Amino acid sequence: MKLTIEKLESIHVKEEFSCGYDLLDNYLKRQANQDIKRKLSSCSVLVDKQNIVKGYFTLSANSIRRQDLPEELIKKLPPSYSDLPVILLGRIAIDKSIQGNGFGEILLFDALKKCLDLSNQLGILAIVVDPIDDKAVSFYKSYGFIELPTSDKMFLSMKTVEQL
Ligand SMILES: CC(C)(COP(=O)(O)OP(=O)(O)OC[C@H]1O[C@@H](n2cnc3c(N)ncnc32)[C@H](O)[C@@H]1OP(=O)(O)O)[C@@H](O)C(=O)NCCC(=O)NCCS
Repeated sequence: MKLTIEKLESIHVKEEFSCGYDLLDNYLKRQANQDIKRKLSSCSVLVDKQNIVKGYFTLSANSIRRQDLPEELIKKLPPSYSDLPVILLGRIAIDKSIQGNGFGEILLFDALKKCLDLSNQLGILAIVVDPIDDKAVSFYKSYGFIELPTSDKMFLSMKTVEQL
């Protein structure tokens, strides 16, 4: 199946998208375009030749409080930074019809590459994700994301991304 990754636009057909989580399906169908217009988030979609959406992820600028970072990292950061710049990979999802075929990994690596390119233009300490459940935690863990001590979020430093 030939699929490409594009920025979400009106030509893309998202009505049938179903990843098994209503929250993630409804975000794509009802809110993603508004968030793009309001400059709150970007949304990249995995589409087939008919422009049918088979997967998506969102990215936005975010920050993390110093005290929410792992202890070893806090020690290495200058004390003057009380909040640290990160990118939030808010959502990533693949349509159930093609899950388990490597497309989630392709989307994740595309998101990491976009973050890496951005980190050459502005300061980004890490990528943060907000896993929807325990299965998502193990998905992210398998790519090196670590759990944060004071929240349900997970974290991958840009230094680690550079080495991938
Ligand atoms: C999680 C998700 C994006 C993965 O996409 P996918 O196309 O099914 O996954 P891939 O085929 O690319 O698999 C990539 C790796 O992750 C593992 N993996 C896939 N889904 C997983 C899951 N739910 N839990 C744990 N590991 C998972 C695979 O085993 C694979 O590892 P391997 O290469 O060592 O076998 C997709 O299953 C999905 O949309 N799930 C529902 C929404 C969700 O949980 N989103 C993430 C959190 S917001």
